[in-house]
Amino acid sequence: MSSAHEKVDPHPSDTNLQSPVSNLAQYPGPHALISNTAFDLPRMARIVDIHRETPLVKTFVLDTDIDAQPGQFIMLWIPGVDEKPMSIAGMHPLTVSVARVGPATAALHALDRGDYVGWRGPFGHPFQLEQDRQALLVAGGYGSAPLYPLAQQALAHAVDVTVAIGARVADELLYADQFEQLGVRLLLSTNDGSRGVKGFVTDAIQESLPGFGDPGGLNLTVYACGPEPMLVALYNLCRANGWHGQLSVERYMKCGFGICGQCALDDVLVCVDGPVLTLDQLKDKRDFGHFHRGPTGRRLEI
Ligand SMILES: Cc1cc2nc3c(=O)[nH]c(=O)nc-3n(C[C@H](O)[C@H](O)[C@H](O)COP(=O)(O)OP(=O)(O)OC[C@H]3O[C@@H](n4cnc5c(N)ncnc54)[C@H](O)[C@@H]3O)c2cc1C
Ligand code: FES
Repeated sequence: MSSAHEKVDPHPSDTNLQSPVSNLAQYPGPHALISNTAFDLPRMARIVDIHRETPLVKTFVLDTDIDAQPGQFIMLWIPGVDEKPMSIAGMHPLTVSVARVGPATAALHALDRGDYVGWRGPFGHPFQLEQDRQALLVAGGYGSAPLYPLAQQALAHAVDVTVAIGARVADELLYADQFEQLGVRLLLSTNDGSRGVKGFVTDAIQESLPGFGDPGGLNLTVYACGPEPMLVALYNLCRANGWHGQLSVERYMKCGFGICGQCALDDVLVCVDGPVLTLDQLKDKRDFGHFHRGPTGRRLEI
């Protein structure tokens, strides 16, 4: 603590510029996973590459690395616009894949190579690879993004990996080529049947997963990220088949590190206790599959 006579530098150097609450970083807080970086201002990074993945999704490669685990996310600041949570799709270099759905993501999509964005993180509870079990990675929408580094991690540990991706139409199947190049078993589904099984991703799993229908025969852990109705269907599939499950759940986030309470799912704060939650953590959650909170904090139907 500073003494009453200690001089305070009225012009602190820019390199030490931190938020007024930066001293709180010394305090471990209510959740062990709060990172010291949580209280820092965003660090700036240059966009060095942009790939168009699907009509809605672009991948942004930044000129920085991040020390993170698959399933964690960053708060990505689009200068002058907003700061939004984004899954980490790659760590070396830091990469995000972003769907254009509203003002902030449209502004990000309008940026070019050489432009700057800010980022804080990594935040959240990651996937925990269960090395003694087969892995079924299930993605819907932009859910492929956090599952890609998980597939790489699983393969590096010689885990048997199946990836199931669902989309409305063929050209919205995110990362299908990248997963194929990794050499994993790939199951695809589209609602209109333009590629893979016609229907939902759970239909593809039931039709095409080798060994499906032999409850207890598959020593499987499901790792999933996607729209909540898909997660609910997978929760039920896991329970029916005795599989383990780790589901990445999304809630509206403001702070990203457990302060504002915006991301509450019953008694869980998704930004620190999640986004990856186990089946047991999701058991009996009234909001799961039913309610989320909008930007004002009001509880809305999913
Ligand atoms: C942990 C986590 C990881 C995510 N990872 C990705 C990702 O890898 N790629 C991707 O494209 N999107 C991801 N999202 C969703 C992304 O944050 C929203 O799509 C984005 O914030 C939309 O902002 P907008 O201004 O463009 O759209 P808006 O018009 O403001 O909103 C469009 C939709 O995005 C949701 N949304 C808006 N703001 C937030 C917010 N602060 N937190 C959560 N949801 C919000 C809204 O509820 C609405 O459903 C992730 C969200 C979370 C919580
Ligand atoms: S986003 Fe603030 S507590 Fe989770």
